[in-house]
Amino acid sequence: MASNHSLNSRIIILECLVLVLSICLISSLYGISDPHLNLDYYKSTCPSVLEIVRKEMECACLSDPRNAALILRLHFHDCFVQGCDGSVLLEDTVTLQGEKKAANNKNALKGFRIIDRIKNRLESECPEVVSCADILTIAARDAVLLVGGPYWDVPLGRKDSIEAGYALADINLPTADEGLLSIISKFISQGLSVTDMVALSGSHTIGKARCVNFKKRIYGDFPMTTSLNPISQSYLKNLKSLCPPIGTESDNNETDMDYVTPNLFDNSYYHVLLRGEGLINSDQQLYSSFLGIQTKKLVEKYAADPIAFFEQFAESMVKLGNITNPKTYVNGEVRKTCRFVNT
Ligand code: HEM
Repeated sequence: MASNHSLNSRIIILECLVLVLSICLISSLYGISDPHLNLDYYKSTCPSVLEIVRKEMECACLSDPRNAALILRLHFHDCFVQGCDGSVLLEDTVTLQGEKKAANNKNALKGFRIIDRIKNRLESECPEVVSCADILTIAARDAVLLVGGPYWDVPLGRKDSIEAGYALADINLPTADEGLLSIISKFISQGLSVTDMVALSGSHTIGKARCVNFKKRIYGDFPMTTSLNPISQSYLKNLKSLCPPIGTESDNNETDMDYVTPNLFDNSYYHVLLRGEGLINSDQQLYSSFLGIQTKKLVEKYAADPIAFFEQFAESMVKLGNITNPKTYVNGEVRKTCRFVNT
């Protein structure tokens, strides 16, 4: 018992050290308020860009609201790997290893065809003008808005990368079973705060997760974080029948992350956390981890005040979208097709 306790303390000290170190190492590589970006970037070169993206996103979200979640996640996974540069969209070729098959992305990213459609329309309207990174950033804003979330203005002018970050995708992207402090340090090293992290996690008010990402939780501490009232008991029972404990056949089975209003961008996700019913471990930690004093307060705030959540979410999305790598402005380009660099 005593040795368990001292092991736990050592792990906590180690996690704190990692956090402090990464705060010190906040990368100067990525700029959070990028002077290259502005609201009028395509005013003379492609004035209809916002309208075209909005129309395509309307069609996509009308045909299936899940598409909003797919695009929002794509944007996040783009920006956390060498900045928002469309690198996540690149396919493998003989000379380039894309990010799609990195462990954190494999079987987990969809929505590429929606981006292809938008790009095609833009190429016929204003050829070789609008970058894929900008398309993804605008599409993510529209996705949120179209399923009931807040609006924000999107600064534009990103360039597309000519390389991808296969290894970085596994280093930079947070995972469902990662410790709270380690996740916080990943956000901080991108120039995002704990508040940004808790607000942006509110994205999980839409979309789905696969069994492989919450199996440990439902056969682990789920009963400890809930009060196990009849509703959460039957929720847990359903989750267990979707994801049996043995075997891997069910790993890709999916369920809604916010089972109350899965297709609506609202603050219901935070209420789910207050009840201890967060589907993935990283989400529930925000409220239940004894290391998460600040995160718990923020969860309570956004559960109580949907307007505060929307305002912070919009602000944090602008910060996320402004993560750029200065190198991309030197050697980047506007791709003709989002899946391949120009030849
Ligand atoms: C805080 C750290 C985060 C972790 C650990 C995390 C992890 C995950 C995991 C494990 C899934 C389920 C994927 C699957 O099973 O295929 C997921 C889905 C999702 N995530 Fe996150 N995420 C985080 C932050 C974010 C942020 C910042 C955004 C957006 C700004 C975001 C947007 C989404 C969306 C929209 C989905 C649903 C995708 C779909 O329906 O396919 N996540 N996330």
